[in-house]
Amino acid sequence: MLMTDLIAKKRDGGELSTEEINYMIKNYTHGLIPDYQMSAMCMAIVLQGMNDRETLDMTIAMVHSGETLDLSPISGVKADKHSTGGVGDKTSLILCPMVAACGVKIAKMSGRGLGHTGGTIDKLESFPGFVTGISEEEFYANVNRYGIAIAGQTADLVPADKKLYALRDVTGTVPSIPLIVSSIMSKKLAAGADVIVLDVKCGSGAFMKTSEQAHELARGLTRVGRLAGKRCAAVITDMDQPLGCAVGNALEVKEAISVLKGETKGELLELCLALGACILTEAGLAADDRAAREMLQTAIDNGSALKKLADLVSAQHGDSRAVYDTSLLPEARLKLEVPCEKSGYVSRIQAEQVGLVSMHLGGGRATKDSGIDLAVGAVLHKKVGDYVHAGESLATVHANDAAKGREAVHLLRGCYTLSDEAIDRPLFIKGIVR
Ligand code: URA
Repeated sequence: MLMTDLIAKKRDGGELSTEEINYMIKNYTHGLIPDYQMSAMCMAIVLQGMNDRETLDMTIAMVHSGETLDLSPISGVKADKHSTGGVGDKTSLILCPMVAACGVKIAKMSGRGLGHTGGTIDKLESFPGFVTGISEEEFYANVNRYGIAIAGQTADLVPADKKLYALRDVTGTVPSIPLIVSSIMSKKLAAGADVIVLDVKCGSGAFMKTSEQAHELARGLTRVGRLAGKRCAAVITDMDQPLGCAVGNALEVKEAISVLKGETKGELLELCLALGACILTEAGLAADDRAAREMLQTAIDNGSALKKLADLVSAQHGDSRAVYDTSLLPEARLKLEVPCEKSGYVSRIQAEQVGLVSMHLGGGRATKDSGIDLAVGAVLHKKVGDYVHAGESLATVHANDAAKGREAVHLLRGCYTLSDEAIDRPLFIKGIVR
């Protein structure tokens, strides 16, 4: 078999066989197919697409490129969640304890943040002492005992994706539904859960800009999940502005805790109820959406969801008192307001730019080895549709460096667009694919 023939076949709109896809992924992973040939193939796939069978084959071939987790020693239904990435996305910190409190097992491998989006692992490290690099034995033991563990990726899952994603990133070949589906679903399948829910972001802060593209991606992800024997659902959500109000690691943890305490409602709670209802119904623990939402709301009302977060933190050697007393979380030295220069309705907040402001303050990584400041970031007081008076604060910048803080104030003001006309609040949940 020759890679040049496979590239030509895909370029001309042909269908790659299972053997051809296995050959391509195996040899690329082992360095026997060079980057220049693989990038030509990726571009051919971007332009010609792949059918469901090819996408599934590519996904499975990628799963087999590395280690996989066997969650069978854990009793009960195991669930996992994936977000296609967004600014202010602290959903896992709320959703995982909520569904674990309802009886679903969460054995989750999570990533660190890179660039303008933060990772769950970084956010959890805001709890003093929290260890994300627990051993495999501890990981399994914690899930069996508390129903929840969230660890940094230890096993060498899907090395093919690490190489391919880095290549796609620099060759203009990220925006392809079959390539995105195989990239995301290979990692989810390798992580071993029975139920997979996907939060597909849509809007200017996401890489799916339109609702049509996001629906197509959601259908592609759930189809491949089901073909691979998993119970799968996707929720399509707005990312035209940051999710919730806090952006920055410890600030997001505080917001997540306030949702788990029942103090903060709005879109963040709504998203966690929608994703949680998908998990509980797919897991067979709730008869329908309404029953599932009731179970989840009860877990908030009776404190069991918050207690699950405390269990997670203490089981992973963190100081769980911070769950009940958030003054124990990292706190920035400086708090600077962002006064609005004129009155009007907020018509736009550039999500990606807000993420970059937090990164500039030290809250995000420029390269995968850089350190981060867990305390810094921003809390938005005004969201799209809100009216703001001249002089009122749009947001508070949390900084540890005065010069960076002042610059962040200026940059954050530039993220907002105001209108004289009243603006409808955007529809947050744009669809659910089951
Ligand atoms: N996220 C992934 O993990 N892979 C992609 O291809 C795109 C987003």
